Amino acid sequence: MAQYGVDLLWVLILASLGLSAFAIFISVSRHRRQHSKVVNSPSFGDDVASEAARKVLREVEKNGQSVDAALVTWSPETLRKILAEDLPDAQVIVVSNREPYIHNEDKNGDVELVVPASGLVSALEPITRACAGTWIAYGGGSADRQVVDGDDRVQVPPENPSYALRRVWLTEEEYQGYYLGFANEGLWPLCHIAFTRPIFRESDWEAYEAVNRKFADTVVAEARNERPIVLVQDYHFALLPRMIRERLPEAIVITFWHIPWPNSEVFSICPWRERILDGLLGSSIIGFHTQFHANNFTESVDRFMESRIERADAAVSYGGQTTLVHAYPISIEWPVQLLKSLPPVEECRAHIRERFGIPADAKLCVGVERLDYTKGILDRFHALEELFIRYPEMIGKAVFLQIAAPSRGTLPAYKHLHEECQRLAEELNERYGSGSYRPVVLVAEHHSQKDVYKIYRAADICLVTSLHDGMNLVAKEFVAARDDEEGVLLLSTFAGASRELLEALIVNPYDAAMMSEAMRQALIMGPDEQRERMRRMREIVRDNNVYRWAGSMLLDAARLRKRGELDRVTALSERPAIANGDNVVSIFERKQAAGYR
Ligand code: F6P
Repeated sequence: MAQYGVDLLWVLILASLGLSAFAIFISVSRHRRQHSKVVNSPSFGDDVASEAARKVLREVEKNGQSVDAALVTWSPETLRKILAEDLPDAQVIVVSNREPYIHNEDKNGDVELVVPASGLVSALEPITRACAGTWIAYGGGSADRQVVDGDDRVQVPPENPSYALRRVWLTEEEYQGYYLGFANEGLWPLCHIAFTRPIFRESDWEAYEAVNRKFADTVVAEARNERPIVLVQDYHFALLPRMIRERLPEAIVITFWHIPWPNSEVFSICPWRERILDGLLGSSIIGFHTQFHANNFTESVDRFMESRIERADAAVSYGGQTTLVHAYPISIEWPVQLLKSLPPVEECRAHIRERFGIPADAKLCVGVERLDYTKGILDRFHALEELFIRYPEMIGKAVFLQIAAPSRGTLPAYKHLHEECQRLAEELNERYGSGSYRPVVLVAEHHSQKDVYKIYRAADICLVTSLHDGMNLVAKEFVAARDDEEGVLLLSTFAGASRELLEALIVNPYDAAMMSEAMRQALIMGPDEQRERMRRMREIVRDNNVYRWAGSMLLDAARLRKRGELDRVTALSERPAIANGDNVVSIFERKQAAGYR
């Protein structure tokens, strides 16, 4: 009887793997057919499609990975299809600290709508629209309470509502401890190599835990059934995945860590390191922008937790549950919808030059970001000075426009940065300016997305010189904005985007001499070279767009869900007595089962 049970188990496993492979084959062929209609010439033909599908099957056989995302043309429609076909009836819930729409009261007492300067928001907003999901976030706007319904929800986007934004209210004390304190004075400097000392306070930790619990309560309240797909965003919510797992064991929790993950020695500084890892390992999947940061995370788990690391499967087994640890490079929507409403490049150039007083014979170099010490803003100023020292003929020929959206401005490190930026900008203007020529224009104000895209379109050069950055979406936005195929991107080697945008001029922001040489190269680069570089980068951003980012995670989620179902079926037969983890793939248990037999 026992032998019969074990045989049945194997028959079910093999049959199910066969069915999954067949389903993936069919799904890939379907996506491939759609794709080939759009981009492939007939010479590629069916051979390529079937070879591609065979490649996918080989991958599936090799390590259980999901469909090769590169085979699909990614769009909102693709996401909707994945949800409808691979995750039927799944409710998508996004959780982030920053909300995609902030309602503020202006000085006349009217309500104004602000879209925050946040890469996270610009990436997730089109996804949530496509999935018609629910987005849970901290309601931080001064008029946020005025516009919600009785359940603290507001339908957005306002012009064409397609999903619900559920606001969570925080007390001033919670906000201080959880957001400003633990998240931004503790975890943020801990995870970025920018040589700012992390500060850890017990009271901040307590607030962080309490706020994570508040969000967990809200996720449970918003879940329409036991099995939502919850997309947890960023370092504000390291404890949330475990809290959700405890209350909704059948949920698929996908956590995306938008910032770098430090090596295990640096991570060991954090007094609550085990709690943070335990919280994150409540996720079904943890995503990072780069493989490097995914590896750092796995090493931290290996060092501090009683766990088993399965490198070949990119998975961690901990407390009877398995978590996949993958790199999913984030991106932006393609095509950018906003571009439709923008004037041609020439008009943007004229408008922006006039607005910021840029002389006709000077090239426009721009930097656009939150005013943050990880972004290397001061290093750009140093590089500009170095350029003027090395090539005095460039004085008068270049203006650097820095748009810096104020952020976390009450924290000492940010106040200090703001002051330093102002001081250095004035110093450079005094030293190298003359008449109406000012080499640095510093605008420390929030700008709308529309304005930011106009600035990208007007720029000759865009500088993204982060000291350390998970991805950096400004680099990708600049490329997307340049449908004229001109403009040069200077990109830090320490930003994740430099792994993809190889045709940028890649720089080390700590090396002012190197940066100044790159700036010169950009200033004198001819239009043909600009076009060649820009064209290639545009292809990369088009193909690796944000729908691919989300779609890859959703496909992996679908795979986990199918395996979870398989586990449930096999659990019905007589099987070796092993601990089974929730709905999450139990690779190790399955291997144990094989060994047991
Ligand atoms: O870069 C990490 C990140 O969380 C982004 O995802 C987001 O754009 C930004 O930081 C958030 O900044 P703020 O603290 O102003 O919300």
